[in-house]
Amino acid sequence: MFRSLNNSHNVEDLRLLAKQRLPGPIFHYIDGAAEDETTYRRNTAAYEDCDLVPNVLAGVQDIDMSVTVMGQKLAMPLFCSPTALQRLFHHEGERAVARAAEKFGTMFGVSALGSVKLAEIGEMISTPKLFQFYFHKDRGLNAAMVERAKAANFDTLALTVDTITGGNRERDLYTGFTSPPRLTLKSLFSFATHPSWALNYFFREKFELAELKDYVEQGSNIAISIGDYFGGMLDQSMNWDDAAALKESWGGPFCLKGIMSVADARKAVEIGADAIMVSNHGGRQLDGSRSPFDQIAEIADAVGNDIDIICDGGIRRGSHVIKALAAGAKACSGGRMYLYALAAAGQPGVEKALGNLRSEIERDMKLMGVTHVDQLNRDMLRYR
Ligand code: LAC
Repeated sequence: MFRSLNNSHNVEDLRLLAKQRLPGPIFHYIDGAAEDETTYRRNTAAYEDCDLVPNVLAGVQDIDMSVTVMGQKLAMPLFCSPTALQRLFHHEGERAVARAAEKFGTMFGVSALGSVKLAEIGEMISTPKLFQFYFHKDRGLNAAMVERAKAANFDTLALTVDTITGGNRERDLYTGFTSPPRLTLKSLFSFATHPSWALNYFFREKFELAELKDYVEQGSNIAISIGDYFGGMLDQSMNWDDAAALKESWGGPFCLKGIMSVADARKAVEIGADAIMVSNHGGRQLDGSRSPFDQIAEIADAVGNDIDIICDGGIRRGSHVIKALAAGAKACSGGRMYLYALAAAGQPGVEKALGNLRSEIERDMKLMGVTHVDQLNRDMLRYR
């Protein structure tokens, strides 16, 4: 089949375009997950074990799909999760995703392992921005990142809590993926067979991890796998006191990214977090972990009135967002759902991905007989 951006109607179409454009190791870094990838597959399959029960004759000509999460008003109930290394996937990297998210009035999450400076993104867009924080052993780096996120007018901060050690990502072991890519005979061959990617990578702005490069060699000069980065650079002693202290030093809307259990959701409420991202890091960490969607209902029953619940991961369709919101999430977020599109075509790609999903959400709300996302509830779901 002839593939083009205009003829890409869903996440899978964009995934296949990304696969054509990217050198193998880079595609598999995005596409892959931990061990047998059971959790990765389950993150999406979980939605298929739950059916929607629509209502009709509801007068649905005007739809409002906006939500407020962590005090931020989003024009759509789906936002861009923070993901690392974006300029490796497309030379525009975070700049493309930032501008596309702004066009859609939704939140843009920027990773501490991002490849464009927070300050630049802060100046570029005025829509809500989330900074995703990794708790490093280097306390000076931690403090500097908080200050830079504040100075760049980021609205919310999310502490990642599910990367206490590196996930066992076997595709990366097979391909030898590192950041920056190591130049070997094999990798040079894969670059040579993807010349448009390679020309952009080698002849444009040097790839580096913008917020880390002044602190750690691993920011740009040493090729390292993500597993080794997590294992070597992050502080495995991190605990609830550290999370509470980070929340204090940030002082703004605060989120924990990677909460899966009711017990931890309650602790998040206790330390005064504004939100939790129910997430297993896209299946990239603990294979065998339950899917976020499967956990939403029990977490919402326990703390749904006390904290904003975000269902992160596995989203491939608007109907997945509808199901997560009906189960009790306030909003949804995802990484690969826009990353494939970034790799495939830069900003127009991300706009296409978000546009497809927004149309699906709007169409599905109409077909469900609701005009506002608040009207979605558990009565509209049946678990098989
Ligand atoms: C990953 C990190 C960097 O999952 O978020 O690869």
